[in-house]
Amino acid sequence: VSAVRLARRAALLAPTLPVTTGRIAFDSGHASPALLPDLTAEAARALSAHRAEVLQYAPRAGLPAMRAWIAAHTTADGAAIGPDDVLVTNGAKHALELVCRLLLDEGDAVVVTAPTYFSAIPIIRSFGAEFLEVGQDREGLDVEALGALLARRRAAGQPPPRFLYNVPDYHNPTGITMTGARREALVTLARAAGLLLVEDSPYRLVRFEGEPLPTLKALAPDIVLQLGTFSKLLAPGLRVGWVAAPAPLVARMAQLKTDAGSCPLTQRTILEFCEGGRLAGHTASVQATYRAQRDRMAAALRRELPDADFDLPLGGYYLWLTLPDEFDGEVVERLAREAGVSPLAGSRFFARPDADHPRHHLRLAFSHATPAEIEEGVALLGAVCRTAALAR
Ligand SMILES: Cc1ncc(COP(=O)(O)O)c(C=O)c1O
Repeated sequence: VSAVRLARRAALLAPTLPVTTGRIAFDSGHASPALLPDLTAEAARALSAHRAEVLQYAPRAGLPAMRAWIAAHTTADGAAIGPDDVLVTNGAKHALELVCRLLLDEGDAVVVTAPTYFSAIPIIRSFGAEFLEVGQDREGLDVEALGALLARRRAAGQPPPRFLYNVPDYHNPTGITMTGARREALVTLARAAGLLLVEDSPYRLVRFEGEPLPTLKALAPDIVLQLGTFSKLLAPGLRVGWVAAPAPLVARMAQLKTDAGSCPLTQRTILEFCEGGRLAGHTASVQATYRAQRDRMAAALRRELPDADFDLPLGGYYLWLTLPDEFDGEVVERLAREAGVSPLAGSRFFARPDADHPRHHLRLAFSHATPAEIEEGVALLGAVCRTAALAR
């Protein structure tokens, strides 16, 4: 097999499989098993009342009822769109891949935050794109730095980046929520610069406190391609997500989507759940459960790792821990895994390995572990950090 000449896009990616999860999983963005809804009745109804639909090929852009539901959901969230502006996909990552297929040629530039969602990195990289990184502070993406970066490229005669990818709500991995002012500034700059925005919004409803801020899609529907998913709210195994974009772009992406349509049985099961009136109650349980797990982890961290720092995320699945400067997150990750708990080193979340990034962060998911495991996992992490500090 080593003699096989790989396509450039395959050769660009390191041949590593995802790391295995530890006994206490702080690494994965898996849902809490206790929150996975019982969909037996919905699936049975889908198979009985909609047999001809769910066992046939589905329309490539998604079931019309699913596209209409997503359009209404997005419209209720402030961005008035119609079903033709929606493409149903096999999850948000698939939606991002289709956006890349639509927009990227080899050598094109894409802007991401530093750090960014680590599963977005290989997707974008496999298209031969060049990453440009922009920093963040507590208010979200540094729009001034982005303006300076775009101006430098213009002055150097370089083409503008093809798009900017960001997670404005409960950012993965940092948990930061972009302020309203920053969102406004970003869409104003993007519009002036002719920059498309890819807004990845999987945690939008996984909100613990505060009023929701306008999405980028609501502020500038014509230049924003918004990615959505049922993974973080219902169940990641369903693999149903979407991209909301201007209809001509949706039509193009439907051409590029070569899977003969996402699974209609799964779409119809989800529709039965949402239209059957269970979504609001389920969303409330998701919010309450993850809020309690976040608080449990925060309290344990303050007790076990008093020298580490973090901001409390207002939603999402993750807490971004800043260890004292002299710690190396990769070493802590390795030692913690040996001890039975699996944080992720912050270094995994930077798109440009050549740039000089901080090494003393960890991302901790509070979504999957039980409250008792959160207590035990943070205690183990504290012990590992104390040992690592003594060893220096
Ligand atoms: C920012 C972000 N986008 C997308 C996803 C995954 O979405 P999906 O399961 O729909 O592919 C995740 C899951 O961790 C995420 O954090």
